[in-house]
Amino acid sequence: MERITIAIDGHSSCGKSTLAKALAKTLGYVYVDSGAMYRAVTLYFIQNEVDIKDAEAVKLALLDIDITFKNIAGKNTTFLNNTNVEDKIRSMEVSEFVSPVATISIVRTKVVKEQRDLGKEKGIVMDGRDIGTVVFKDAELKIFLTASPDIRTQRRYDELIAKGQKVTMKEVKDNLLRRDHIDSTRADSPLKKAADAIEIDNSNLTEANQLEKALALVKAKTLQL
Ligand code: DC
Repeated sequence: MERITIAIDGHSSCGKSTLAKALAKTLGYVYVDSGAMYRAVTLYFIQNEVDIKDAEAVKLALLDIDITFKNIAGKNTTFLNNTNVEDKIRSMEVSEFVSPVATISIVRTKVVKEQRDLGKEKGIVMDGRDIGTVVFKDAELKIFLTASPDIRTQRRYDELIAKGQKVTMKEVKDNLLRRDHIDSTRADSPLKKAADAIEIDNSNLTEANQLEKALALVKAKTLQL
């Protein structure tokens, strides 16, 4: 079967990464979490007290940032300058700051270039906000995943609690809605559904149902090629 590029976009905590990982595993494709790259840049800015309003400081910092992924015990793991930052980039502190960082055009230029390099060989599933509209405009399959804000809040809350973080449902919901707003209204590459994306609302779908739907779409696309 011909290997294709699969773009999965959607709002925060809509289940993109769960579906993307399952698809990549089933198809034997590479999975790339594009949000993790913005989160790693954000963590670097926090750790090094980079003032995001200072364009020169941001430019210099970006030269010092190297983001890689490794498979550790079967888990896709993010490294920032050779340090495992997978847990740190998922903290509320990073979540609070990541959307403003992701509005900065020179940050996006660097990250998008790296994302395109990772996708050169096809056989990739990448999830994010602008994968179908900017990063891989020519992706053979684009999925736009949606779920209600309450369901997304509950999922994110459960995830953070399971990791031992102390958060309230209200904090999680406020953060999600604030990020949705910033991500959808920014000037550079706002979150939006690509004209040729197929929308799946997973509010009432199990992970297995979603995977089944997505695999049927992959099959239909690859048969057309
Ligand atoms: O998918 P996530 O929640 O881990 O993404 C974190 C943030 O990164 C999100 O609030 C917006 C930004 N992002 C982006 O601007 N473009 C992407 N392709 C992926 C994420």
